[in-house]
Amino acid sequence: MSTTELQASHAELMDGVYRWQRHIYDLTRKYYLLGRDRLIDELDVPQNGSVLELGCGTGRNIALAARRYRNARFFGLDISAEMLETANAAMAREGLAARVGLARGDATDFDAKALFGVERFDRVFVSYSLSMIPGWEKTVAAALAALAPGGSLHVVDFGQQEGLPRWFRALLRGWLRKFHVMPRDSLRDVLESESKRTGATFRFRTLYRGYAWLAVVGAPK
Ligand SMILES: C[S@@+](CC[C@H](N)C(=O)[O-])C[C@H]1O[C@@H](n2cnc3c(N)ncnc32)[C@H](O)[C@@H]1O
Repeated sequence: MSTTELQASHAELMDGVYRWQRHIYDLTRKYYLLGRDRLIDELDVPQNGSVLELGCGTGRNIALAARRYRNARFFGLDISAEMLETANAAMAREGLAARVGLARGDATDFDAKALFGVERFDRVFVSYSLSMIPGWEKTVAAALAALAPGGSLHVVDFGQQEGLPRWFRALLRGWLRKFHVMPRDSLRDVLESESKRTGATFRFRTLYRGYAWLAVVGAPK
């Protein structure tokens, strides 16, 4: 299969997963996509800064962050047209459409300048999406390449549940598989080695006994 065919079939898969789920997504996910609000709190976006979310889904994070960082411009990329329909409606409903740009694309291979008219961002974040993206390591590299000097990449996702009972881990994994979610066991290593490669700083925390992992990569100035 060619890259374009792979991207098209993954986009179709994501649209299939979210066609109906998107209507109950924000209500249900608030109970188990933990650490998202902490990531938003820590973005600390500079005045008139620019922020890109890769795998923005319903736009829940962008809407919260846009209310919090009122002078910043926000951009969201997602491969699912279904999710983007919900995100666009949310931005219009919340009066944020003028400050938020949303586009359909693949987070492993995108041209931010062509999609948003912006090449580099002060903040890039990826929330519970790397666990759904085939070839997610390319997203990490693309996110770092899209950072402005002194900018930062923030990642939150499922951890390895390393401090939780084995039965809980097995139950969670089985359930996540139904949604094509695969917690990445090498997430920390990949982020750390990409940080080293690009001369960036690296901060990593486990949340809720490894239920979730939170990382911040700080690009050099
Ligand atoms: C679990 S949702 C997370 C949504 C949002 N970031 C949040 O925290 O609620 C994962 C999102 O990643 C998107 N996604 C999956 N693969 C992608 C890819 N290759 N490129 C861009 N988005 C992708 C899905 O369509 C979905 O909206």
